[in-house]
Amino acid sequence: MVNNKIMPSLFGADIGNLQKEVMPLKDLGIDILHVDMMDGSFVPNIAFGPTQVADLKRILPFQFDVHMMVENPEKFIPQLVDAGVEYISIHEEATAHLLRGIQLIKKLGAKAGVVLNPGTPVESLSMVLDEIDYVLLMTVNPGLGGQALYQPIYKKITALKELIGEREINIQVDGGVNNENIKACAEAGANWFVVGSYMFSGSATDRIATLENALK
Ligand code: DX5
Ligand code: ZN
Repeated sequence: MVNNKIMPSLFGADIGNLQKEVMPLKDLGIDILHVDMMDGSFVPNIAFGPTQVADLKRILPFQFDVHMMVENPEKFIPQLVDAGVEYISIHEEATAHLLRGIQLIKKLGAKAGVVLNPGTPVESLSMVLDEIDYVLLMTVNPGLGGQALYQPIYKKITALKELIGEREINIQVDGGVNNENIKACAEAGANWFVVGSYMFSGSATDRIATLENALK
């Protein structure tokens, strides 16, 4: 799977100026926004509940990739699908019923991803690899924007790529991704790049162009 995709993370945008920050991305070739849900329990922060995700989905003309940093994510999955969310990822560490969660997302018609924290080994995915559309490797501890990418992660991306083999599964990275490390993430095997603070700390045109150039 070689289709590179840059996915701006809404968490990094200025919520007070959301449309101004996000709408220009549409004309710059962005079709999927990454939207973080945080419950203040699984991660030490709170962001976007299902009601806000639904409100945002109504006003922003993008596909949504919702990253559920919440315990027992299964209970919110139906609300997200009802809101029209196209991609949903759940943390392996946040549920005792990973397979059930994946199956629910698929049954309701969305694409399913599994997220691994930096300390969780990729081998733990081996039993569900045939069920999922993407794996999100956290490249920082989840819950905050603006952190530095965890350098040992490159080896983990490559190990995941090997584990995936011929399967059509995208490898997504999230946390500290910027113009200086996006190429190394891609060379290690990632093809979906979530970008938060780097994306929204300059002009969108400049940021996308810089990231795309770095990927060449
Ligand atoms: C962090 C979130 C990220 C966050 C990334 O836990 O999952 O999506 O917005 O922000 P940056 O790119 O600033 O690390
Ligand atoms: Zn995220």
